[in-house]
Amino acid sequence: MHPALDHHAWTESGLILGGRPAERLATEAGGTPLFVYDRELLARRVRELRAALPEALGLNYAIKANPMPALTGFLSDQVDGFDIASAGEMRVALDAGMPREEVSFAGPGKTDAELRRAIAAGIIIEIESAGELERAADIGAELAVQPNLAVRVNPDFSVKGSGMQMGGGPQQFGVDAEAVPAVLDRLSARGAQFHGFHVFPGSQNLRAEVLAEACERIGALVEELGRNAPAPPPRINLGGGFGVPYFPNDQRLDVPALTPALERVCARLRAAFPGVTLRIELGRYIAAEAGVYLTRVVDRKVSRGKTYLVTDGGLHHQLAASGNFGQRIRRNFPLAAASPARGPEERVSVVGCLCTPLDLLGDDVMLPGLGPGDLVAIFQAGAYGLTASPTAFLGHTPPAELLV
Ligand SMILES: Cc1ncc(COP(=O)(O)O)c(C=O)c1O
Repeated sequence: MHPALDHHAWTESGLILGGRPAERLATEAGGTPLFVYDRELLARRVRELRAALPEALGLNYAIKANPMPALTGFLSDQVDGFDIASAGEMRVALDAGMPREEVSFAGPGKTDAELRRAIAAGIIIEIESAGELERAADIGAELAVQPNLAVRVNPDFSVKGSGMQMGGGPQQFGVDAEAVPAVLDRLSARGAQFHGFHVFPGSQNLRAEVLAEACERIGALVEELGRNAPAPPPRINLGGGFGVPYFPNDQRLDVPALTPALERVCARLRAAFPGVTLRIELGRYIAAEAGVYLTRVVDRKVSRGKTYLVTDGGLHHQLAASGNFGQRIRRNFPLAAASPARGPEERVSVVGCLCTPLDLLGDDVMLPGLGPGDLVAIFQAGAYGLTASPTAFLGHTPPAELLV
């Protein structure tokens, strides 16, 4: 069985999510397709992380993974801070009740309007370039508010095995490590409040030994940068990039195997900078496995010997499951029948309702004799689902989201 299915149960009523049959949830939501996010799975994931992370290392949630306001609000009591990537996400973070000083804004291309809102709100801005620093300082002067600025560092190394590389070599993300001293001098000269460093080298990594090594290297880099900074860094965000298993051969990330390296790095940074606040920030690892996308079969057809289940969902809601978000070779996300089985397993292809051959949710998968009216569940759907997908394409009604 795929590791993603470990958390879920089936009864004679089909798939059970948050203690209720999937079919009942679809009715409650007003129809299909829909996303269901399970509070208990979110909370369990945070508890497991807390058990494995050093006590000194706080946990931030990266809202970009799933910005549903109810889900973000639920997590606001359980994590220590939110990472945001836009003024829209800032609104979600602050509405969820996260204290302003625990909200940090990273991402290239922050507009003046977004910087103005973030500075007025008093959140931390992760500076991504020398130019962005000057714009933030100008806006602070105009508003007569001292901006809270941290420096996002583009390290001089990359992390192997990440689904997405966001550090090392030339990058639109962060200030190159060798340019950080000059940026820190400007930050002091412009009278901004220095909030420390942030490093985020990549996303979706399943290899504990690689993440452990990356963490040690990030620790050494920020220690050196901090020792040469005009003031000690009050906060250091070590990034994250913890992955989840999507495909049959993916092994679950062994988070406890990371503990010794994280302990060493935290001890080292606390010795170098007494009182420093330490964080990692995770999006996918917290939200992905708590989410299931439910879609209903509209049509069953056989074309030249191949059986298709045509559903009312598709890549316009779950771009990632169609292979069009971060996969080099298309592979199937874990998928199963959410309605009671009707017959023996058979080989079928599950497609969406869009007029493109890219709208393929499960190619040559085994499902138990499903037909029109039955529900199909796609797992690992809680992160980078709805908001990372082209929902406006072909003008279909957006799916519902339920937090159960
Ligand atoms: C700055 C930053 N923080 C956090 C994340 C979240 O990554 P993940 O969802 O893989 O944990 C990303 C992802 O792109 C990011 O760019």
